[in-house]
Amino acid sequence: MNINDRRKQPLDITIMPVDPFQQFNLWYDDVRSADIPNSNAMVIATADGDGRPSARMVLLKEFDRSGFVFYTNYESRKAAELELNPHGSILFLWNALERQVRIEGRVQKTSREESRQYFAKRPRESQIGAWISRQSSILPDGCSLEASAAALEKKFSGREIQCPDFWGGYRLVPESFEFWQERPYRLHDRVKYKKNGETWIINRLFP
Ligand SMILES: Cc1cc2nc3c(=O)[nH]c(=O)nc-3n(C[C@H](O)[C@H](O)[C@H](O)COP(=O)(O)O)c2cc1C
Repeated sequence: MNINDRRKQPLDITIMPVDPFQQFNLWYDDVRSADIPNSNAMVIATADGDGRPSARMVLLKEFDRSGFVFYTNYESRKAAELELNPHGSILFLWNALERQVRIEGRVQKTSREESRQYFAKRPRESQIGAWISRQSSILPDGCSLEASAAALEKKFSGREIQCPDFWGGYRLVPESFEFWQERPYRLHDRVKYKKNGETWIINRLFP
């Protein structure tokens, strides 16, 4: 099926999987096989202790039934917000397929081991970048990130670079999913899955 055929497919609640992870898989396979750039880029919205929201892009690195994983700095703004309020909202926009997916749930840190294993697979430059970045802090005048990178290259020369304690993953454990498919006349299809104990309740929503 080509990209245009996929785009035109309505979301038919009567034949959609009862399991939203399966539905996500179907759509994720579509974006990957359509070679859509940045198909794993997603917005993660968090909120601070007063409920003030903030959002930013991150990359989805893994997902399965246990949740959706991204990696970041544990001293960043998003991390501080998740400490105060462990609820998050993920958003994917796959424009070429005229699709959007929203996923909401609780966010927890990945295990140290999981973060270490992922970190070990990253390119060396990214590992050095993680050590250098005090993500979301003010960068003082005259501070050269390139000079810091060169210094760390030297320091770590010939050695394996360990995962910093201030860096690791988060896993959003879904409590709801919404799949949105563009349709003619702006009468878009929206299907929402809401977790109810061990099962998922499925409903269509008005566009
Ligand atoms: C396409 C894209 C992918 C990104 N992926 C990540 C990521 O996986 N992890 C990350 O920490 N920041 C990533 N960023 C940077 C974040 O959007 C953000 O600037 C950074 O995490 C700081 O956010 P915070 O101050 O809200 O914590 C990405 C940005 C873009 C545009």
